[in-house]
Amino acid sequence: MNVSKVGQLMASLSLTVFVVVFSWNISYADGKGIFASKNCGSCHQIQGPAAEKTFEDQQKKKGPELWYAGSKFKKEWLGEWLANPTAIRLLKYNSVTEKNTEKHPALSKKEADEVADYLMMLTAKEVPVGAVTEAVNPQGKNMFQKKYGCVGCHSIKAGAQKVGGVSGPDLSDAGKRLKGDWVYAYLKEPKVFKPVKRMPIFVSIINDNEMKTLAGFVAAQK
Ligand code: HEC
Ligand code: HEC
Repeated sequence: MNVSKVGQLMASLSLTVFVVVFSWNISYADGKGIFASKNCGSCHQIQGPAAEKTFEDQQKKKGPELWYAGSKFKKEWLGEWLANPTAIRLLKYNSVTEKNTEKHPALSKKEADEVADYLMMLTAKEVPVGAVTEAVNPQGKNMFQKKYGCVGCHSIKAGAQKVGGVSGPDLSDAGKRLKGDWVYAYLKEPKVFKPVKRMPIFVSIINDNEMKTLAGFVAAQK
């Protein structure tokens, strides 16, 4: 390689470094920018209301919707999970047979906190803030384990062990992840949060007070 070629190479290299660093600075300025630049939106819907109408629509989705993330998640969990994601659903998203072995894209702790700040701003008006008291309670436990059979599809802790089904998301540490108010709204307003779903609709089965007690029990699982 002659001197002028080396020079050209150096020039284009430093230009590339400049462009990369420069665009990094702009697009990483806030959580929204990070969300866009990492293509998170290619798998996650951030605009409501729910767009899926049929089971096929749901099957086409590559990841859970995040348009109500701020009403659903506890912020501390969200920041930690985005930096160090572990499987939430025991089965692969949208599958009823395959184990979830996918590695979710991870962010640095700083990026994760910024994206968490951004996602916490996406809230749904259907989630009544302060409606539910998060507490382990015997009535909730009875409903979950016996009366309404939630445990058939969802795991929770029973002492040192985990019990329950795997077809629904693991709820054994739901209290770290989910807000009780959202769990209540999820049971109460299935059309808003999951118009097409595998979980049974409990609207006419569980009364309003029981729903709040049950949601409080779920959101106290840690
Ligand atoms: C290739 C598709 C894909 C991409 C890209 C992706 N995700 Fe995900 N995401 C998923 C899937 C699938 C899950 C469910 C994981 C599980 O249940 O274990 C998930 C779960 C989540 C959850 C928890 C949601 C819930 O309801 O449990 C959050 C928050 C999240 N992703 C944020 C992000 C962010 C932020 C980015 C960009 C840095 C991102 N995701 C990129 C597919 C994706
Ligand atoms: C027949 C199986 C089944 C039963 C019974 C069931 N669920 Fe579910 N549940 C699911 C599935 C599957 C999902 C994931 C979304 C979907 O496809 O419906 C889910 C989602 C959820 C979620 C949202 C979790 C998240 O991280 O997004 C909560 C909370 C929940 N269920 C609570 C309950 C409660 C409380 C009961 C009992 C009243 C119950 N479920 C009964 C299958 C079930």
